[in-house]
Amino acid sequence: MCGIVAYVGDRTAYPIIIKGLQRLEYRGYDSAGIALVNKGIHVYKCKGKVKDLEMHTNGKPITGSIGMGHTRWATHGEPSDNNAHPHVSQNGKFIVVHNGIIENYSHLKKELMSRGYDFQSETDTEVLANLIENIYLEEKVDAELAVRLALTKVIGAYGLVISCTDNHDQLIAARKGSPLVIGVGEKEYFLASDATPIIEYTDQVIYMNDEEVAILSRGDLTLKNIQNDAKKPKIQKINLSIEEIDKGNFDHFMLKEIYEQPISIEDTFRGRISMDRSKIFLGGIIEALPKLAEAKRIIIIACGTSWHAGMVGEYLFEEFARTPVEVEYASEFRYRNPVINKDDVVIAISQSGETADTLAAIKMAKEQGATILGICNVAGSSIPRETHAGVYTHAGPEIGVASTKAFTSQVTVLTMMAFLLGKTKGLINETDYKKLVQELTDIPDKIGTILKSESEIEKIAQTYQHANNALYLGRGYLFPVALEGALKLKEISYIHAEGYPAAEMKHGPIALIDENMPVFVIATKDKSYEKIVSNIQEVKARNGKVIAIVTKGDSVIKNMADHVIEVPDCHEALAPLLTVIPLQFISYHIAVLRGCDVDQPRNLAKSVTVE
Ligand code: G6P
Repeated sequence: MCGIVAYVGDRTAYPIIIKGLQRLEYRGYDSAGIALVNKGIHVYKCKGKVKDLEMHTNGKPITGSIGMGHTRWATHGEPSDNNAHPHVSQNGKFIVVHNGIIENYSHLKKELMSRGYDFQSETDTEVLANLIENIYLEEKVDAELAVRLALTKVIGAYGLVISCTDNHDQLIAARKGSPLVIGVGEKEYFLASDATPIIEYTDQVIYMNDEEVAILSRGDLTLKNIQNDAKKPKIQKINLSIEEIDKGNFDHFMLKEIYEQPISIEDTFRGRISMDRSKIFLGGIIEALPKLAEAKRIIIIACGTSWHAGMVGEYLFEEFARTPVEVEYASEFRYRNPVINKDDVVIAISQSGETADTLAAIKMAKEQGATILGICNVAGSSIPRETHAGVYTHAGPEIGVASTKAFTSQVTVLTMMAFLLGKTKGLINETDYKKLVQELTDIPDKIGTILKSESEIEKIAQTYQHANNALYLGRGYLFPVALEGALKLKEISYIHAEGYPAAEMKHGPIALIDENMPVFVIATKDKSYEKIVSNIQEVKARNGKVIAIVTKGDSVIKNMADHVIEVPDCHEALAPLLTVIPLQFISYHIAVLRGCDVDQPRNLAKSVTVE
């Protein structure tokens, strides 16, 4: 949450920072700001998006080759001009942009107030700016030491870029808990919350570690920890192209990402499924495989859509590998004193690799001796660095806040893991294994077929665009898909929606059904098909409107439902990968028809680095 971009070098900083902030807007878009260092310092900030900041700076001095910018997701204080970053300390000595939360800010604030500090905003960041300044002025130390001393007093998480107005040529960056990447160019440095603002200029990056401080000026970088021990910068090459983070001809990133799924799933297979489509090889967990095979229990931890992927994982691991699975919200798991044993394997799933609750849950399980595997999309992010081993999803950058291709790639990885584990444990015979692997590799083409029904699905979206509520029902593997379908609709169209196990409908939600209630039923041919047909009849008997996702050629449900959307036939364990696609389209089109901001829905952010 919150995006940071900064630059020090010989180029004009303004366009680099503005473009970078636009790339990071998925992290928050309540307000934005920029500080530019020239002969003097100019700070501009306002409520709204980066485009509002651009309008705000129109006609004002924007020169300077050092600067920092911020796009905010409000934690302390409402979105407003005053609460926007950068924050300037009371005597104008320090300028700060911050991603994270200073948990002991109110205690620090009281102390600073007793020393004569007044506050212009409600933010924790302004407290930090004043704390650094107070140390700098009272202890008469240099800016870097003042920053390090201040950070020893801080409890919480931060990605920080700081400028001291007495030393115009220098930027100080620090990280704990919130990501920060340094781009290394020819006598110039870039700083950002992820690599996307940097790739246009350099492919050489340093991922900062927790409690590290970087001091950057033109052509000079010093890395150390808060205790002043020198650290050797580890420069890595990033494999990310501009095309991957461009919207191309699509109206929205979400639509582009829905369409990318045949390719993103292929990319998830790449190098992991043999050419003859008969074997799975997961290099990232090869050493952990014996441990996984012996595990008495698998605990899957995740948040949001990744948690839904985890639920599909539960069905897969229990069916194919016969290992008991618990799927936990990371936020609940970390705070409820869970029983964790040394022979438990914890699988953490995260698109961003930065979700604060998932990261904290991993650290806790690790301390208690469990083996931790990660399934992440963003290479070099915090979660893969905390886990013992893992598998990257390789879905490519996902920019739309509502997750689509990351979900199907996560489910693809979980499916490969479950098949491989079942085979390793001797629970799947050679013939069945080959058949399963082949069926899995057929999925991208089958998704390609579903993508062709977009215009048909758009018509259904038109019919239900004014709904106030919606219900999503599924059984077995398709129950997590119902949850995901409902979440997609809530997130981007602001229609209240609930996902339910179809059989549970009669224990409550059935009371809500009337002629105004669209009920999305995921009802492809599987072992509970007959049961879900009965559930559809129960909805129809109460005049509910049924939109059913069915297996191609299904004539039974066609005669009952108000609308059907067909998907190709597949093994029931693979059906989540197909049936989620029409639900993504439904949410997308309803949101567009309602005039919602599809890629940046209100109040949400893609990378949730606060608890
Ligand atoms: C946010 C995003 C969701 C995502 C969730 C978990 O809520 O909007 O799309 O599923 O965080 O994020 P992660 O990066 O850990 O998968």
